[in-house]
Amino acid sequence: MRIRTFDDYQQAYQQSVEDPEAFWAGVAQEFQWRKPWTKTLQWNFTEPNIKWFVGGKLNITENCLDRHLAERGDQPAIIWEPNDPHEAGVTLTYRMLHDQVCRMANVLKRNGVGKGDRVCVYMPMVPELAIAVLACARIGAIHSVVFGGFSAQSIADRINDAQCRLVITADGAYRGNKEIPLKSVVDDALIGCPSVEKVIVMTRTRTPVAMLKGRDVWMEQELKQVTADCPAEEMDAEDVLFILYTSGSTGKPKGVVHTCGGYMVYAAYTFENVFQYEPGQVHFCTADIGWITGHSYIVYGPLACGATSLLFEGVPTYPDAGRFWDIVDKHQVNILYTAPTAIRSLMGFGLDKVENHDLSSLKVLGSVGEPINAEAWHWYDDHIGKNRCPIVDTWWQTETGGMLISPIAGVTKTKPTYATLPLPGVQPMLVDENGKEIEGNGVSGNLCMKFPWPGILRTTWGDHERCRQTYFSTYPGLYFTGDGCLRDEDGYYRITGRVDDVLNVSGHRIGTAEVENAINMHTGVVESAVVGYPHDIKGQGIYAYVIADAMPADHDADLTKRDILATVSRVIGPIAKPDKIQFVSGLPKTRSGKIMRRILRKIAEGDTSNLGDTTTLLDPAVVDEIKAGAV
Ligand code: PRX
Repeated sequence: MRIRTFDDYQQAYQQSVEDPEAFWAGVAQEFQWRKPWTKTLQWNFTEPNIKWFVGGKLNITENCLDRHLAERGDQPAIIWEPNDPHEAGVTLTYRMLHDQVCRMANVLKRNGVGKGDRVCVYMPMVPELAIAVLACARIGAIHSVVFGGFSAQSIADRINDAQCRLVITADGAYRGNKEIPLKSVVDDALIGCPSVEKVIVMTRTRTPVAMLKGRDVWMEQELKQVTADCPAEEMDAEDVLFILYTSGSTGKPKGVVHTCGGYMVYAAYTFENVFQYEPGQVHFCTADIGWITGHSYIVYGPLACGATSLLFEGVPTYPDAGRFWDIVDKHQVNILYTAPTAIRSLMGFGLDKVENHDLSSLKVLGSVGEPINAEAWHWYDDHIGKNRCPIVDTWWQTETGGMLISPIAGVTKTKPTYATLPLPGVQPMLVDENGKEIEGNGVSGNLCMKFPWPGILRTTWGDHERCRQTYFSTYPGLYFTGDGCLRDEDGYYRITGRVDDVLNVSGHRIGTAEVENAINMHTGVVESAVVGYPHDIKGQGIYAYVIADAMPADHDADLTKRDILATVSRVIGPIAKPDKIQFVSGLPKTRSGKIMRRILRKIAEGDTSNLGDTTTLLDPAVVDEIKAGAV
């Protein structure tokens, strides 16, 4: 099933469209199933109801671990690079990882977790995070990983939504020169989480933590009580593997649900083909496991393919902006997969940070999470890949489980800023506002998918109707991505960004409504409106227009702004803090009370020349005031 040439790609693509079931059955049979499936695909996009490999039984950890032991038991599965370059790292072979996953799985069982139970994981980027995730999968527990930068409130919301029974965390986390008190954040969260019975705490920073009798246990002590014998639970292909929360244009984040069989097949297939992974190569994905990129391309995809996956605890600028290149050099990394925001930020530090490192091991470069601008693309190509490494600009989403539109390294001719062509099994369609298909090339529209692939989300946890409404109702019969897209004369796709009220800040997906709700929780705030604006490094910055109940005088305004930032940090987390806050006396609203975001976006972009028709506004004068006070 391995694509080696563009002809292979075209053939695979054609088969995947003409006979998707035969195509995916062919891919899936390369994995280890306890029991074969009886029907490859059942689906409709109306309910929606999507099932792949119906009746098939498997355990994803047998595919990620046990299956490799005979042939590559002593090959590194995970190479861990700590935050501090002077601290010793860890290399876990497949045999060691298998052993540790089984032990951790037994710890979970000992603490009352069984098949179908939900486990919240709030951890630093250490091997134990990957081990925790795999241990859940081993026993059929459903993991919900929460990124270590989220606030107590965000954790509590996620725990309560999924009714998690247990939390796995650490005393603290190191990120660059910061130390984050994870356990203490969890303690705050758990005040409002009655479903949680146990907390397993790993030692990382050894910062003092409160340990509650009957609830909190040390991971290291628990591990001493168990053996490494843990047979994998037999799972149905459609049993839930994990929940991952992500932001949308309305309400609280939704729990995107992925299932065992289809997700595994899709993550592995895309990993192997897009990166053209060769046995023995070292793959370095710089994402955090708290996001989908980490789930699919640090943990499941690479391990299902028997690859060596590098896991990095720190940040690209610590101890200096040469850290990524240092890691590439030190571990002879072959595939580097990172986000445009990281590239843009590192570009700013100049070439001397790059040039004193040997980057000749690199074979493939990847980009993900947001549109990559031409300048960053070329810098990556010239200075990191030295014009000899294909760049794969991979477009996908939490909901898609794996990459959907991407070049295949060395196979698909690349074009800066283009995600290029759909992968086999992916059937994109551009539609206009009314849902009418836009055919032909040299066109743009809203990006939809007309046929399922194995990694597509199945539901949103606890609320199937929300899944239907969010993704399958805007254009009946289609999956709507929320992205705008153009298809050029060559049929190449370029993703232009979200067309809904979702921001992409440094590759992090943030709903404007979520940020507004957080700002509105500040005692002095009456109302707010949040929009994105172009930001040189982050891609998008967050601009907040705030109506305060008493317009702060100049000398108080800064303080109030800082209070608002602190409020947002508390409610969501530091990643959602606005970059700019403007106090206004009113917002541009239509007579029906709808905020005209189009106008606010223009002002935030600094483009006030043509604000379009403002005559339908309740109070057009407010626009002049906002224009005059723009920050
Ligand atoms: O707008 C697209 C953007 O990120 C969104 C998905 O965010 P999330 O679910 O957090 O997953 C990110 C990692 C897969 C998309 O709707 N996006 C992601 N990759 C690209 C991209 N935009 C342009 N080009 C990409 N390569």
